[in-house]
Amino acid sequence: MWDYTDKVLELFYDPKNQGEIEETGETGVKVATGEIGSIACGDALRLHLKVEVESDKILDARFQTFGCTSAIASSSALTEMIKGLTLDEALKVSNRDIADYLGGLPEAKMHCSVMGQEALEAAIYNYRGIPLATHDDDDEGALVCSCFGISESKIRRVILENNLTDAEQVTNYVKAGGGCGSCLANIDDIIRSVQQESAAPNLNNYGVKVATEIVTSKQQALTNVQKIALIQKVLDEEVRPVLIADGGDVELYDVEGDRVKVVLQGACGSCSSSTATLKIAIEARLQDRVSKSLVVEAV
Ligand code: FES
Repeated sequence: MWDYTDKVLELFYDPKNQGEIEETGETGVKVATGEIGSIACGDALRLHLKVEVESDKILDARFQTFGCTSAIASSSALTEMIKGLTLDEALKVSNRDIADYLGGLPEAKMHCSVMGQEALEAAIYNYRGIPLATHDDDDEGALVCSCFGISESKIRRVILENNLTDAEQVTNYVKAGGGCGSCLANIDDIIRSVQQESAAPNLNNYGVKVATEIVTSKQQALTNVQKIALIQKVLDEEVRPVLIADGGDVELYDVEGDRVKVVLQGACGSCSSSTATLKIAIEARLQDRVSKSLVVEAV
């Protein structure tokens, strides 16, 4: 018998916001859905958001899940937490926030909170027409656990965000390692790698500065011409196809130091969420691929 908090049991016996939200054609409102997990793996969560287009505010949130007590409680908690938030505010909700709202979750059930956070991210990215980063083209995106389809980047993220220190914890949070077990040694290596990065001088506990300095040193190795060429390449290959598919586009206008000036075109130019598009689709991608210090602005 799991040792659940009163809040987990309350939301399990009396779940909030269960069900789906259907598109009704209501003016100024859109419905977004994010789905995570698979029934074959035991847990699946589908999250529906009703978003006010003008303000980007979440008017309603509902969920459907094939999960256990903690999956239902985590989904209920998440939907309660995000109602009334803007999409950008909701993106800041972490799996740890969901667990905290519940007064904690048994360690072996933490994957339910991770599933909630991922479904939320999926719904918001779907709404914005942005594919979730898979990093299939780099080493960090390499598949580590084939039983559960978990990549290295996902494992690194959960280690960093939750300060995990052993493979069993990683299994509890994202299930990797919980099948045949053949990936456990790789997970141990990833944990050691993250710990080494975090232990380096002048780095914080979560290795955030490590990542920054790696990218920064990459940037320092680039001449200005190389940096501009790399920005253009990322825009052409990773950003523009997504925007074009949604009726928009972006053109690189100028680069002044770390300020990247772009011209949004088509649907992007007149879209009320163009600022969010800039931040999420363009700035975040350029920071990831070129330099953490880049700031994107529309001209
Ligand atoms: S490959 Fe990870 S548990 Fe089987």
